[in-house]
Amino acid sequence: MTAPDPMAELARQLKPYRGQFPSFTELPADGLARAEVTGLAERLAAAEERAWRDGYASGAVYHGDPAHVAFLSRVYAAHSQSNPLHPDLWPSATKFEAEIVAMTAAMLGGGHAAADAPVVGTVSSGGTESILLAMKAYRDFAREHRGIAAPEIVAPVTAHAAFDKAARFFDMPLVRTGVDETFRADIRALADAVTERTAVVVGSAPTFPHGVIDPIPEIAALAAERGVGCHVDACLGGFILPWAERLGYPVPPFDFRLPGVTSMSADTHKYGYAAKGSSVVLYRGRELRHSQYYTVTDWPGGLYLSPTFAGSRPGALAATCWAAMVSIGASGYTDAARRILETGARIRDGIAAIPGLSVLGDPLWVTAFGAGDGLDIYQVMENMSHRGWSLNGLQRPAAVHIAVTLRHTLPGVADRFLADLAASVEEVRANPGVSTGMAPVYGMAGALPADVVHQLLAGYLDLLFEV
Ligand SMILES: Cc1ncc(COP(=O)(O)O)c(C=O)c1O
Repeated sequence: MTAPDPMAELARQLKPYRGQFPSFTELPADGLARAEVTGLAERLAAAEERAWRDGYASGAVYHGDPAHVAFLSRVYAAHSQSNPLHPDLWPSATKFEAEIVAMTAAMLGGGHAAADAPVVGTVSSGGTESILLAMKAYRDFAREHRGIAAPEIVAPVTAHAAFDKAARFFDMPLVRTGVDETFRADIRALADAVTERTAVVVGSAPTFPHGVIDPIPEIAALAAERGVGCHVDACLGGFILPWAERLGYPVPPFDFRLPGVTSMSADTHKYGYAAKGSSVVLYRGRELRHSQYYTVTDWPGGLYLSPTFAGSRPGALAATCWAAMVSIGASGYTDAARRILETGARIRDGIAAIPGLSVLGDPLWVTAFGAGDGLDIYQVMENMSHRGWSLNGLQRPAAVHIAVTLRHTLPGVADRFLADLAASVEEVRANPGVSTGMAPVYGMAGALPADVVHQLLAGYLDLLFEV
């Protein structure tokens, strides 16, 4: 058997349109007719729609109902020229952003904050940017107000990769700590890792890999006691957990109701059901938010100020986010959460009932599962992809997860998922030792030295940007 060539496999997956659609490596001498271009763009969108529309994707599209998509697109079209960098031209963008922040803060316990330290925030382009902004704010705040020369982040190993990214971008040591047998942050390990250099301790509600909620009350209490910041990453759970709690699910406090929580990230473009490209980062008090801002006073281009990393920003995305929030409202979010949590429980329990598979931890709607009996879980995932499914591969330990969205609450989707999963497991059992498609790529990544894997990943990114 020849060794798998991961790059060839990735290229095959990433470039399905090679030879199928017009392709450009330089500008056409004369522009194409608009009707031709819209026709091409719409054909591409239609070719890709089925996978997410019919609930075959983990996460990715969180609402996706055609009427909701059309509604967002209409609002986007009305504001497509808007840029919050120019509040004089587009005060509407400023209104939308301020109200998105206010509504998100109110949903996440902002009303419990002291009057002299209100919960404030900004809108960003996504979860990663919200996390990067918060970490940069903690770094600068720690240097300026706490006299820490090299501020550190303390985060469980399960906290999102965006915290590694922040650590590298902002030159902040990141101390990763362990999790317990339920995949929740080990509070003792966190406590041991906090030192006089710590700028911030992180908890997730829930974590991306396993969908479990870290012990946020304990993490917040630890942070308060030691006088360090506490960031709760609620990118996944910010727009589900408040409603889950109302619905009677066992959700421990995880937001600004806890005095030790000093910042949060919550993604409007996930379970907030906005168009892709929006998230909210919140802080307890304006002082911490000031450490996020960028202002320059001596530039010949004038006085320059921007709240986030970008300069110009898409006002249309703020408009669509605001439109999603005010059109869905508290009752709509509660109903969506109820459907997602019910489907999540069905899927979680159904996975646990498949011989050979086991659920990791005690998740609510993002369920990670691994395989015993020598079954290759990555080959199970590969077999699921042959059946049209797009799931997320995890590692350390080897596992796969599905993040349940409104697409999975449609009639028949959960049953189809469970039937396909059982069939995929059977197929692996019937073909021991067979490793095809992406399965060997995952297997190899776990076995190769880190620098080789870095090279492979860089090669993957190269592929994305080369025709
Ligand atoms: C818990 C958590 N944090 C952060 C992120 C990063 O969000 P984004 O992909 O929008 O940058 C994700 C993405 O899934 C997440 O699940």
